[in-house]
Amino acid sequence: MMITEMTAAHVAQVAELETLCFRDPWSERSIASELENKLALWLVALDGDTVAGYIGSQTVIDETDMMNVAVHPSYRRKGIAGELVNALVDALKMRQSHSLTLEVRASNDPAIGLYQKLGFAQVGRRPNYYRNPKEDALILRKEWEM
Ligand SMILES: CC(C)(COP(=O)(O)OP(=O)(O)OC[C@H]1O[C@@H](n2cnc3c(N)ncnc32)[C@H](O)[C@@H]1OP(=O)(O)O)[C@@H](O)C(=O)NCCC(=O)NCCS
Repeated sequence: MMITEMTAAHVAQVAELETLCFRDPWSERSIASELENKLALWLVALDGDTVAGYIGSQTVIDETDMMNVAVHPSYRRKGIAGELVNALVDALKMRQSHSLTLEVRASNDPAIGLYQKLGFAQVGRRPNYYRNPKEDALILRKEWEM
């Protein structure tokens, strides 16, 4: 599995995966516009030309928000999401960011398990943050020394 920065060549597959994995997906157009966004960094995990997973982030000064992470169902439980998060953290260290914050549905056990394994801590909870179905978000954060 190769992890590399998302380019225009990957956007259509990322958008397909986004629709497959989330109830409120980003459109292909908004994903493409991240390529022009200086605050954004998106990485893809490639199996040949196939996008097996991706992670999206935005950094303001020295703090980063993770927008999404997803792995195609047929590639799950092989450590790909963990590799994507760790590759993002390594890239952010070089960009002078010192924290990564994300929201996750309170019932999303696979994702919460992933983040716990990677050393994220819960720093808050937003009641009824998500729609269809309505659900709380847990706010998780990982920080590192520069
Ligand atoms: C969450 C998601 C990205 C995990 O991707 P993945 O590549 O399968 O994850 P990894 O193989 O790197 O798993 C790392 C760890 O996360 C935890 N984990 C992952 N899937 C899990 C599951 N179904 N149940 C319980 N724990 C799980 C485990 O601790 C796992 O380590 P282990 O395999 O050694 O037990 C994937 O399930 C997905 O795309 N889900 C839909 C989109 C989503 O919910 N994204 C997160 C939004 S905040």
